[in-house]
Amino acid sequence: MPFSKIANSIGASVTLKLNAEAARMRAAGDPVIHLGGGEPKSLAPESALSAGAAMLKTGEIRYTPAAGTPAMRDAIIAYTEKFYGRKVERTNVMASAGAKQAIMVALIALVDPGDEVVFPAPYWVSYPDMARLAGGVPVPVYASDGSFQPTLDEMIAAITPRTRVVMLNSPNNPSGKVFDEDWLRALIGYCEERGIHVLMDDIYHRLVFDGRVAVPCYDCTERSVDDSTLVVLNGVSKQYAMTGFRIGWAVGPSRLIRAMADIQSHQSGGPCSLSQAAAVAAIHGAQDSVTDLRAALESNRNELMALLKDVPGLKAGVPEGTFYCFADFRAFDTDSTRLAARLLEKVQVVTVPGVEFGMEGFLRLSYCGPGEDVREGVRRIKWLLDESAGPSLEAGQKVFSR
Ligand SMILES: Cc1ncc(COP(=O)(O)O)c(C=O)c1O
Repeated sequence: MPFSKIANSIGASVTLKLNAEAARMRAAGDPVIHLGGGEPKSLAPESALSAGAAMLKTGEIRYTPAAGTPAMRDAIIAYTEKFYGRKVERTNVMASAGAKQAIMVALIALVDPGDEVVFPAPYWVSYPDMARLAGGVPVPVYASDGSFQPTLDEMIAAITPRTRVVMLNSPNNPSGKVFDEDWLRALIGYCEERGIHVLMDDIYHRLVFDGRVAVPCYDCTERSVDDSTLVVLNGVSKQYAMTGFRIGWAVGPSRLIRAMADIQSHQSGGPCSLSQAAAVAAIHGAQDSVTDLRAALESNRNELMALLKDVPGLKAGVPEGTFYCFADFRAFDTDSTRLAARLLEKVQVVTVPGVEFGMEGFLRLSYCGPGEDVREGVRRIKWLLDESAGPSLEAGQKVFSR
């Protein structure tokens, strides 16, 4: 087919494909356990729902400025002051249709054909394709010791004169790793000196466990927001369980933000006005839903880790944040796509193959669903992988057999 080179280089998002497959199986009556999801199942904050509903009732649902309404930009400013200790101006912030779009317009604004976009592995599935969509070359960086955080030297060794962007996500999807402050400070400083932009994807920064906090990246630079090459990407999707509202944002140097907003003005225009009103209310409103979500996720994480210990051969480090665990299944199958397909077919458990995150032999297990799903999912995985377990397993009305 005569499609563009870019179209031919991009695949569909694997996680969205898995969601569609799980939904199809569920609709057919199968007792699917979804450990592949990327969204909390709690409800959006009441403040957000009422603000959205009130605006909807007015019937005045109009275009907004490409960078977002003044109220939305002020909410991003308030958020940045609260969580990063930096007072920024309206010219430093913009809203987008999800953090995804904010990342994408940042890449389009920064990357020329052939420029390199460097990020640690394992990485969020979309980073390589996003870099390609912007015409760039994705450069994943692996830790030689097999851990989930390359050393500073390993990161720096991957940076070349073609590097325009370093993308970081902490806590990290899929590993749940929170990157160390010294590492962040040194890497940000190195990039600032060379004019390389650091896209800090903070979409999970409030979902960190054990009383810890993710280091606010502006603590890692002495420079002003306009003089720094740091760009913070965030949004309401995960922390407020508002994935479908599609509101994310970027905070960064004014000149870059203007270029990004100009790109967005032609691409999609300002994000949905209703969703912006809801996001503003979520940011300014009561924050107990975030506290409750974090507590529920932490409890699920604890339960998952305890259960995984009982699966002989499986190795899993304790995630420090997010709602994912990136577990090493190489003792059972070194081909993660084949193993995920087998789990779906034989015991109807959805997982995401590690190869999609750049690490073969691992599976990403999500624990953002109900605790019962975590328990039942691991029970089925354990049964399938344990050769000595009986020939069949009962799961509600269904009996799985080998
Ligand atoms: C690391 C990371 N960044 C960004 C996003 C996208 O967030 P949004 O829903 O705001 O587009 C996700 C969603 O899965 C993610 O995992």
